[in-house]
Amino acid sequence: MYLTREEEAMLKGEYGYAAQKSMEILVALGKIYDAERMIEIKSAQISGVSYKSLGDEGLEFIEKLAEDGRVRVPTTLNPCGIDLERWRELGFPEDFAKKQFKVIEAYLKLGIMRTLTCTPYLAGNRPRLGDHIAWSESSAIIYANSVLGARTNREGGPSALAAAIAGRTPLYGLHLDENRSPQIEVKIPRSLNGYGYAALGFLVGRLAGDKIPLFRGVKLISDEELKLLGAALACSGGIPLFHIEGITPEAKLNPKINAPERYEIGVDEIKEVYDELNDYDVDPDLIFIGCPHSSIRELIIFLELLRGRAVKRRTWIFTSRFTRTLGEKLGVVEKLENLGVKVICDTCPIVAPIRKLGIRSIATNSAKGAWFSRNLNGLKVRFMSIEMLVELAVK
Ligand code: F3S
Repeated sequence: MYLTREEEAMLKGEYGYAAQKSMEILVALGKIYDAERMIEIKSAQISGVSYKSLGDEGLEFIEKLAEDGRVRVPTTLNPCGIDLERWRELGFPEDFAKKQFKVIEAYLKLGIMRTLTCTPYLAGNRPRLGDHIAWSESSAIIYANSVLGARTNREGGPSALAAAIAGRTPLYGLHLDENRSPQIEVKIPRSLNGYGYAALGFLVGRLAGDKIPLFRGVKLISDEELKLLGAALACSGGIPLFHIEGITPEAKLNPKINAPERYEIGVDEIKEVYDELNDYDVDPDLIFIGCPHSSIRELIIFLELLRGRAVKRRTWIFTSRFTRTLGEKLGVVEKLENLGVKVICDTCPIVAPIRKLGIRSIATNSAKGAWFSRNLNGLKVRFMSIEMLVELAVK
């Protein structure tokens, strides 16, 4: 693999421990994937922030890098395990919170922004068409590649951090034109909306594995639906990129886009996903939206659907602090909280120590949220539309 003089110097340790470790990780990756050289990146997104997933070993690794390391490109952070301001009020355990603060401190020392969100593209880190980036967090990766047309491989936390410190990543995979073409075409029923797109993503993720799908038959889809679709595709499959005919940027640039394999999805198959992701006999302890983190539009929609009615059970909206601040300025957060809805920041329903809060069942409009709540956190789940969630919350 060709390395520039600066890259060679990093590898030899001339730029310090963190740069050397980072370059070692990147060179090892480059060799595995046969990359010819490195490419400079515009930004990085780092997952592996919750102490729940990092543990003491992960914390020590980041602290060691932070002794002399500093990121070279704008770098944002995925959600951590607590709301940094309201963890006591919400009942998060003190010992967990203390460790979590240490993790954040180490990341800040590295020069990383404390965004703590899986939707960095809604919080100031929004790459442009063709930008090379190194992002971890599957739902953010697929959104960046597909909806924004940026270029990232499916990085893990350590490789994204290494790329941020070195300011570059090996040139292979989705950084190259030839690996971004669709491999499977999926014709969808016309009637989808809202959480229907999450169910579609869950279904196609299973069908396609890690093949890049091209959707046909989508007339209109909102940013929020794209977010739910992508998160589900990346959850049940290993999909890092999708195209939608006439809608996503690379499909728009290539009107003749097509793929060798073809499938047609029917309404009945979508209904099967609803059944699979619903434990129908459960009365949920917690209702949430915001997996991936909610946009300001979702906060407003939730408020409008409430029509002034207070919620009668625990109802949380997960979002970034960036979006919450916007919601505060617009008066949306105050209205939601006056009706009993908590607008939670910095964390997520999966990486927070949710069982320690006594929660045993949830309801959500996110297929990813439902799947991981059941399979990672051992909860009973309901999967339903945002309209149905609001009606359940006020009942
Ligand atoms: Fe985001 Fe957590 Fe869901 S990181 S996509 S809210 S599992």
